Amino acid sequence: MQQSDMTSAPIDWFKQRESLRRSHFSEIWSKSVPQVFRDVPTYYRKGNIVASFGIWELWVWQFVRSINLKPADHVLDVAAGTNDVGIRLLRKQPDIRVTAVDRSSEMQRHGQVLAKRNQVQIESVIHDVHELPFADNTFDVVTLQAASRHLQLDKVFPEIYRVLKPNGRFYHCDMLRPAHRMVEWSYLRFLRMAVALTASIFGSSEASRNCGAYFSDAIHHFYTPEELSTVLGLCGFSDVRCKKSVWAGMVGFHSARKVVSE
Ligand SMILES: C[S@@+](CC[C@H](N)C(=O)[O-])C[C@H]1O[C@@H](n2cnc3c(N)ncnc32)[C@H](O)[C@@H]1O
Repeated sequence: MQQSDMTSAPIDWFKQRESLRRSHFSEIWSKSVPQVFRDVPTYYRKGNIVASFGIWELWVWQFVRSINLKPADHVLDVAAGTNDVGIRLLRKQPDIRVTAVDRSSEMQRHGQVLAKRNQVQIESVIHDVHELPFADNTFDVVTLQAASRHLQLDKVFPEIYRVLKPNGRFYHCDMLRPAHRMVEWSYLRFLRMAVALTASIFGSSEASRNCGAYFSDAIHHFYTPEELSTVLGLCGFSDVRCKKSVWAGMVGFHSARKVVSE
């Protein structure tokens, strides 16, 4: 269903889309995705660079550059993987505190090795991000990069809203569904080929090799940059900005604020 097909109220459109995503991917999210991230930690970054022909580095650099930080800010990096975002944030502003949450202990274990190598400290919490194990109003900034396609946004975004302090800002970046059908068609075919190529170069496990179709299906059922802005508003956020969407909407950079009325 496209946003232009939105005949029902936006909240019903969002519920239907999330329920469709769940019906397609619940089993993959609970079984195959954890296996993939068990397999990839040591070559995760290199694999992304190869699969994207180097664009990955530019994307992460742009995302980190877009994040406003103040000294003493407490940042939560959701689905932090190998701490790529957290390490770069600490290099940009060393006077912050970063907490990482991810359900993959393998990704986080390698993330701790990388944090140590970069002489920064990141607190690691192993947990499913559909329920964040933090008190309300804890963090000044929350980041989420390259994971939303694997998540139930009607659960994760309200959780992020809950743990943000009033006036705190959420920064989001992911591969999105291009609004133009021809761009989407070419992009998804390219993605299947790139995932297969990367899996064969790095000798990935069967779970990773079999995920090419899932990676493109997940984007086909995901949101365009414009739709994601609507979703953030529906989850309670204000001042929603699609700061940038590049390559015809294949990647989007969003930010949104938690504004609590008196
Ligand atoms: C593509 S990686 C992105 C990692 C990191 N944000 C980055 O940009 O490098 C996706 C991450 O999401 C995590 N993930 C997927 N589903 C999750 C869930 N339900 N709860 C917690 N983490 C999850 C995976 O374990 C993996 O580390």
